[in-house]
Amino acid sequence: MANKNLNAAKVAKKDEFYTQLEDIERELQHYWSHFRGKTVLCNCDDPYESNFFKYFASRFNQLGLKKLICTCYNGSSIQGSELALFPEWKEEEEEPKRIAHKLVITEVKDMNGDGAVDMTDVEILIKNDKNVLTQLQTGDFRSEECIELLREADIVVTNPPFSLFREYVAQLMEYEKKFLIIGKQMAITNKEFFPLIKYNKVWLGYGFKGAVAHFVSPYEDTATAGDHRKGMIRVSGITWFTNLEINKRHESLDLVCRYSPEEYPHFENYDAIEVGKTIDIPCDYPGVMGVPITFLDKYNPEQFDIIWQACGNTRTSAPSEILKELKYIAHKEDRGGCAILNGQRLFSRIFIRNKHPQQL
Ligand SMILES: C[S@@+](CC[C@H](N)C(=O)[O-])C[C@H]1O[C@@H](n2cnc3c(N)ncnc32)[C@H](O)[C@@H]1O
Repeated sequence: MANKNLNAAKVAKKDEFYTQLEDIERELQHYWSHFRGKTVLCNCDDPYESNFFKYFASRFNQLGLKKLICTCYNGSSIQGSELALFPEWKEEEEEPKRIAHKLVITEVKDMNGDGAVDMTDVEILIKNDKNVLTQLQTGDFRSEECIELLREADIVVTNPPFSLFREYVAQLMEYEKKFLIIGKQMAITNKEFFPLIKYNKVWLGYGFKGAVAHFVSPYEDTATAGDHRKGMIRVSGITWFTNLEINKRHESLDLVCRYSPEEYPHFENYDAIEVGKTIDIPCDYPGVMGVPITFLDKYNPEQFDIIWQACGNTRTSAPSEILKELKYIAHKEDRGGCAILNGQRLFSRIFIRNKHPQQL
C-alpha cells in the first residue's frame, strides 16, 4: 500500500475499507473461465492502493485479459503517494487533494515465462507504452468519464463504497454489466436490491468465512482482542454479489428435517411457517417458509423459489398479488412488514417455497 498517512478526522462517510489480496484470490478462483478475452473494470480502485488492481495485473496473462482499467476517486480521505506523479500537484500545498486517475493496461510482460507476473510495482507497467496512466476529473463512478469506461467494460470487479451501494448496483444494472462486487448482506433487504435477488438477476458468491471480512482501514477497530488484526477493521455481514455463473448456485441443500406444526410455528401476519435456521428447512413442506437472509448463501433456484421478504419495507415494496398470496395482514408490531411470531417482531426473513417437496 502507498502512503498510509490517514487523517481519520476527515473521514465523513465510512467508505475506506481496503480488500485483502487473499480474500480476492479466494473468491476469484471460482470465476476464471469468465475472464478470457475480457475487459475488466475496477472503478473504485486506486492502482497504487488496490489489491483488485494487483490481482488482475499480476494474472493478466493467465486470465487472458484483453484490458484492465482501474479508476480512482479524488474524494477519498486517504492521501496517496501518487500525487507527485502529476505536475498539477504542488508540494507546498498544505492539504493536497488526491488526484483522480485511470490506469489502462493492455500488456503485461511475462518476465518469468510462466504466465505469472510479480506485480509489485505499478511503475514497471507504466513504462510499457501500451499501458497508459491519465488524470481524470473526479474519478466518481457516476461521472460521464467513468460511465464511458463502464460502457467499454465486460466485467466490473471491486469493493465499491458501502455508502453508495444502491446507486452503484443500479448503475451496473442500467448498463447491463457482468460484475462481482463486495457488499453488506443487509443490502439484500433494500427495496431496490431485493427484487434483483428474487428474480435471479444477482446472487451471492462464495463469500467470506462466517461472513466476516478484515479490511485495511483507517477506522477504529472495535473487534475483540482474539479477532483483532493489526491495521485492520473487522466487519461482519459481508458478502460477494455477482451475476456471473458459478457452480455453487446449482448445488442443492441436503434437507434432513421433517415438518411438524409444533416445531415450525405459523407467523401471525403471513401465511408461512418460521424456519429459524437454514439447515432446519423441512424436506416435505410444500407451503411458504420464512428463513433468515443467510439462506441466500445456500440458495439454488432449481431447488427453491423466492417469494418475497418480510422486513420493514415489505408492505410498500411487495407487489399486491404477492401480499395477497402471502395472506399478509398488517400487525401493530410489524413495522411495515416484519414477520410476527408470538407477538414478537422477527429479524428479516426471506419467504421461500421448495420446488420439489418430498411426498410422504
Ligand atoms: C470500500 S472502499 C474499497 C477500495 C478498493 N476497491 C478495495 O477494495 O480495496 C471503496 C472506495 O471507493 C471510493 N469511493 C467513494 N466514493 C466514490 C465514488 N463516488 N466513485 C468512485 N469511488 C468512490 C472510496 O474512496 C474508497 O476508496
